[in-house]
Amino acid sequence: MTKGVFITIEGPDGSGKTSVMELLKIYLYEKNIEYIATREPGGINISEQIRNVILDKENIAMDSRTEALLYAASRRQHMAERVIPALKNGKMVICDRFIDSSLAYQGYARGIGIDEVMNINEFAIDGYMPDLTLYLDIEPEIGLERICKNKQREVNRLDLEKLDFHKKVREGYYILLEKYPNRIKKINANKPIQIVFDEITKILSKKIGIDS
Ligand code: TMP
Repeated sequence: MTKGVFITIEGPDGSGKTSVMELLKIYLYEKNIEYIATREPGGINISEQIRNVILDKENIAMDSRTEALLYAASRRQHMAERVIPALKNGKMVICDRFIDSSLAYQGYARGIGIDEVMNINEFAIDGYMPDLTLYLDIEPEIGLERICKNKQREVNRLDLEKLDFHKKVREGYYILLEKYPNRIKKINANKPIQIVFDEITKILSKKIGIDS
């Protein structure tokens, strides 16, 4: 059985990943492609429990390395229980955030170091890097404004970080774009969602061979 394709969606907070995920699900369904859609941190029970600890607004004492390790632990369980079995079954996996979030947020923005955070994550992912990563690019000011306007979204501990932190997150993603030019594709997310999604379908057609 051929291994399924692993696609991750990345971007700063408020970049529109959730809307893209919803359109992608409809698109893949219409193309008769077998897939699972999931998210990080979370996706399965144990990882959702870890998510609650990481994002709890009360946990202001959390050390940066503890945070990085918890994201990696949540990732490991999600890989073992959900992502790896689906890929082995030949299913496409689309995941809202993955290792690049840890590299940009903990590695770069928190200042732990991209290589250091990569090291602990290698243990968690065991060689399963994404085949394609769609990076939704947005100015942090616009992203944060979108979050504030979205009343359904619960504000979490990382949302409460200052603008400077969110600017560093974006800088971190830019470093990753240079480091992994074949895997990560940048999309301008400061456009109407249908235009953003059209660009995504073009990339899917070129990289994965899905007819647009
Ligand atoms: P979400 O709001 O996209 O669900 O993600 C929750 C927060 O967790 C978001 O601010 C990004 C952050 N995050 C990290 O800092 N490192 C990670 O490895 C992941 C997956 C998310």
